[in-house]
Amino acid sequence: MEPNFEFKGTTPYEDYVRASVITSLQHPLSDEPGEMVFLVTSQVMELWFTVLVHEWTVAARALRDDDLPRAMAALKRSTWELKALNASWKPIDHLTPAQFNAYRTALGEGSGFQSAMYRRLEFLLGEKSATMLVPHRGVPGQYAELEKALHEPSLYDEVLRLLHRRGYPVPQHVLERDPTQRYQPDPQVERVWEQVYAGPQEDELVRLGEALTDVAELVLRWRNDHLLATRRAMGAKVGTGGSAGVAWLEKRTRKNVFPELWTARSHV
Ligand code: HEM
Repeated sequence: MEPNFEFKGTTPYEDYVRASVITSLQHPLSDEPGEMVFLVTSQVMELWFTVLVHEWTVAARALRDDDLPRAMAALKRSTWELKALNASWKPIDHLTPAQFNAYRTALGEGSGFQSAMYRRLEFLLGEKSATMLVPHRGVPGQYAELEKALHEPSLYDEVLRLLHRRGYPVPQHVLERDPTQRYQPDPQVERVWEQVYAGPQEDELVRLGEALTDVAELVLRWRNDHLLATRRAMGAKVGTGGSAGVAWLEKRTRKNVFPELWTARSHV
């Protein structure tokens, strides 16, 4: 049997994937042929950020509903997606400064730092910051979405609330913390994970802890790959976004994700 060739209007593939829309969005700003892959890599990463925000929102909601299997499925999917995201560094992680310079000036003040979707991703991980909303003031719709995300509990907040409902002594000040503030590691939460991890390894909460650790590790790898790609492409120059560049990114890269899941390991 042959596939269908006859369609009255657009193909059902086009109606679903909107391929003609996606493939009409590549407008390099220089004549440098190497800029295309830099632009497309940025767009591909934005799409993965979007998928990850979706998965972690699903996971956070499922945790709130005490639906652990649904939360675990979303977290597991997100680890595969993070691997694909991280693999997309490959085409641009080895640029020489001259290759990058060939289109760098054309980028003007443009920087991934201004990615609203990446900011939502970090907010879901607990890396909240009202200051990070400021670059988006000029786009009211986007600003409103970010502000809503700032006020919502993070994925990790929902995890800790679930641990509390399962009888673990998560302290009240953590459960009632201001969700607009960056999550701060807490010694009592560290003890909770210590208790969970000391128990049977097939326990569903150990598996939840491991799924979250997989997520954290892959996010740390994204940040680290970004830092190395930046160091190769521009050394210690100032970033197009106006930061100190590598020195600023080094500080960002060191920020922990789900901190007590790492520190509790010293005590198990
Ligand atoms: C070799 C290519 C790249 C270089 C040299 C580079 C450089 C930089 C620098 C210097 C910063 C710090 C802010 C600034 O002053 O601009 C930054 C931030 C950032 N970049 Fe890149 N970048 C590259 C590729 C990408 C790609 C492909 C993405 C994907 C969208 C991306 C996403 C980000 C994000 C999300 C931030 C903010 C990080 C945070 O807030 O912690 N970068 N980049």
